[in-house]
Amino acid sequence: MPALDSQIALVTGAARGVGEAVSLRLASLGAHVLLIARDTERLNQVRDQIQTNKGQATVLPCDLTDPDAIAHLAEQVARDHKRLDILVNNAAIGGTGKPLHEVSPEDWDRLIDTNLRAPYLLIRAFAPMMIAARSGHIVNISSLAGHNPLPNNAPYAASKWGLNGLTYSVAEELRPHKIRVSVIAPGSIDTHFGGGHSSSKDPAKMLQPDDVAAVVATLVTQAPQSFISEVLLRPTQKP
Ligand SMILES: NC(=O)c1ccc[n+]([C@@H]2O[C@H](COP(=O)([O-])OP(=O)(O)OC[C@H]3O[C@@H](n4cnc5c(N)ncnc54)[C@H](OP(=O)(O)O)[C@@H]3O)[C@@H](O)[C@H]2O)c1
Repeated sequence: MPALDSQIALVTGAARGVGEAVSLRLASLGAHVLLIARDTERLNQVRDQIQTNKGQATVLPCDLTDPDAIAHLAEQVARDHKRLDILVNNAAIGGTGKPLHEVSPEDWDRLIDTNLRAPYLLIRAFAPMMIAARSGHIVNISSLAGHNPLPNNAPYAASKWGLNGLTYSVAEELRPHKIRVSVIAPGSIDTHFGGGHSSSKDPAKMLQPDDVAAVVATLVTQAPQSFISEVLLRPTQKP
């Protein structure tokens, strides 16, 4: 039987990049994957790919900056599946490429709402279901920028430092309920994040989206007594 047979997994940012790879990987392990992003057309393509491989997936378009849309999403999942076994908070937007004093409050809010408030709202929506089931995995995708200074991208660094602190704290809150909350902090990945990687980096040396997906798969298929709480994932060679 596949490792995640009959489990329901929700992946944010599933339209491309890391989220797409994670969705394909979890579906290949037998999970029914709920695909979340704004671009319905891209989500449909990911769902079709999963179904071609005999997996199960459902497209649930949602703008994660909209708390009402997240509440509606939670209602849909509760109504249609009555459970959530795996939540992968992966969606994020990149930084502004400016010193902090030049960042507008609107840009600050949009980034923090996407990268930090949405994971909070999704955990708020779904942790009660996991607590009732006395099981579950929450995997937050952070960044090595959540461990380092990032000049000209302070809002992004702040969102990922914040996501790390949120993860460590919620992990302790939910451990007694047998729910494992972990964080993956990757270095540069070969995706179109922030409009594509800078030309100064060599894509051949970067992490691939599937490298992150492999770590997610490891986290959600651990033995019940084992809890990998954090993974720092670096490219072997600096890109
Ligand atoms: N790429 C890197 O070098 C790198 C390095 C370290 C960490 N990370 C982290 O890895 C994760 C995935 O990044 P990636 O490289 O795969 O990025 P990506 O290719 O830009 O994909 C981002 C995903 O998030 C979705 N998204 C963005 N805003 C959204 C919103 N308001 N509502 C719903 N979905 C939204 C996008 O879909 P729509 O636009 O259709 O909504 C897309 O599916 C992020 O957390 C990022 O911070 C990336």
